[in-house]
Amino acid sequence: MSKEQIIEIRHMCKNFGPTRALRDVDVSFYRGEIRGLVGENGSGKSTITSILAGMQKATSGEMFYKGQPWAPKTMVDAQRHGISMVLQEANTIPNCTVAENIFAGRFDEFSKLGIVNMKKVNEAAQQLLDSFGISHIKAADSINDYGFEDRKLVEIVRCVNDDTEVFVVDETTTALSLEGRQLLYKLIHKLKDNDKSVIFISHDMDEILEQCTDLTVLRDGEIKGNLTREEMDAPDAVKRIRYLMVGREIGEAYYREDYDSSHRPEVALELKNLTFGPIKDFSLTLHKGEIVGFGGLSGCGMHEIGRAAFGLEKLASGSVVREGKEIKTCLEAINSGIGYISKNRDTEALILAGPIADNIVLPSIPALSHASFISPKAEKKLSDGEIEGFRIKCNNGRQWVNTLSGGNKQKVSFSKWTAKDSDVIIMDCPTRGVDIGVKQFMYKVIADMKKEGKAIILISEELAELIGMVDKLIIMKDFEVTKEFTRSPDLKETDIIEYMI
Ligand SMILES: Nc1ncnc2c1ncn2[C@@H]1O[C@H](COP(=O)(O)OP(=O)(O)OP(=O)(O)O)[C@@H](O)[C@H]1O
Ligand SMILES: [Mg+2]
Repeated sequence: MSKEQIIEIRHMCKNFGPTRALRDVDVSFYRGEIRGLVGENGSGKSTITSILAGMQKATSGEMFYKGQPWAPKTMVDAQRHGISMVLQEANTIPNCTVAENIFAGRFDEFSKLGIVNMKKVNEAAQQLLDSFGISHIKAADSINDYGFEDRKLVEIVRCVNDDTEVFVVDETTTALSLEGRQLLYKLIHKLKDNDKSVIFISHDMDEILEQCTDLTVLRDGEIKGNLTREEMDAPDAVKRIRYLMVGREIGEAYYREDYDSSHRPEVALELKNLTFGPIKDFSLTLHKGEIVGFGGLSGCGMHEIGRAAFGLEKLASGSVVREGKEIKTCLEAINSGIGYISKNRDTEALILAGPIADNIVLPSIPALSHASFISPKAEKKLSDGEIEGFRIKCNNGRQWVNTLSGGNKQKVSFSKWTAKDSDVIIMDCPTRGVDIGVKQFMYKVIADMKKEGKAIILISEELAELIGMVDKLIIMKDFEVTKEFTRSPDLKETDIIEYMI
């Protein structure tokens, strides 16, 4: 049975100044499919889907939706017509309630004579949250009370309703924990089964192969191929897809290959009996040349431990100690050689309205300045080195961070701490949204840092990454440590999961 086409894109081009983000793209989307959209960082995935969902306009080309010309004016306009998208970046409205976020732009459904019945808005929102299986989020609460992951779930609830015909998920799963991901997978399969169309963007090849029914590959703004499910099941599918993505073969090895979990005897950082919020009496000694990993489900407390180690949490008791000195603020942490890659890159890790180069050199300014003078040459050398090393896709270092693709922003957020030559780096989901080639590079940087005697805390939602990279793995559940594992070739994901749930 041939599938019914719902979206047709013809000859689409999009330029941003000298950057040609999309070049003559022809692609169609069909009912009853979950079409994966893959490609390296900056290949144009978000650009295509954001044009489709009304966030920006193409430079040229045509779009058709259910056979009619399609030119949405705004995201709200697109959603009213059944096309909605969960963005790669955080997209909730701060200082509003959860319910207001869910029904933003749709209050007319709840108003009489111009007065909005907030009680009804809250009730309807809570009903929706409950129906999505996320009753722990309360409609009347301020969105500010919720963390990044819960906000993403609220966005999903906002996007999907009975009128949804096309649902775009842009690199959302890396922001979610295992449970959040399961919820999203169930949802997209339900949409597919109801003959809707799902466009699913991800850098996780396993996830793509497990969840998608079809696949479109992009490279440098061009469509390089479309694969059917049958082709995705072929034994050499991964190799073929990667080849289409990057235009060359990519090796398989990307995690650490050694199983030597030894470290230097010197202590790099000590967390002594930390008690704050729901965390009670947590201690850890991190040594030079050691990588300690943290894994767990959402709300297990691992992200909070990372924040505390960087002086970002107010402790009720206990202390963070480095080289005999207590660290109480993040400024003290930075001055003592600690770096922190935040999971929340847009709000905590980057100055979006500023050049890439400034973001990269920021933590290194004390090291670069001599008698209050910073050599522009030294600054440029440092930032250009990182841009090249991480292959940050940009015109030059003066380009603003908010014009970069998601994965390229993540590279900036990572490289500013490696540029500084930090002795201790706390990494919270450091490879979020980066493509496989860059992941490979980041893992090599991490492994080299260990060899140089640097100390690393790696907090991650990806078990494979933890198993592949860390010397010691701490699993947490409900703000407590449930198990510790030592690096071993025998360690399997299934051994770990039972201590997480
Ligand atoms: N507002 C903008 N100004 C300038 N360039 C932009 C802008 N938005 C996107 N680009 C550029 O367009 C290209 C495609 O970006 P896009 O965000 O579509 O990539 P992507 O495939 O979604 O990548 P990622 O996997 O990193 O999210 C990139 O080179 C990016 O820097
Ligand atoms: Mg993107």
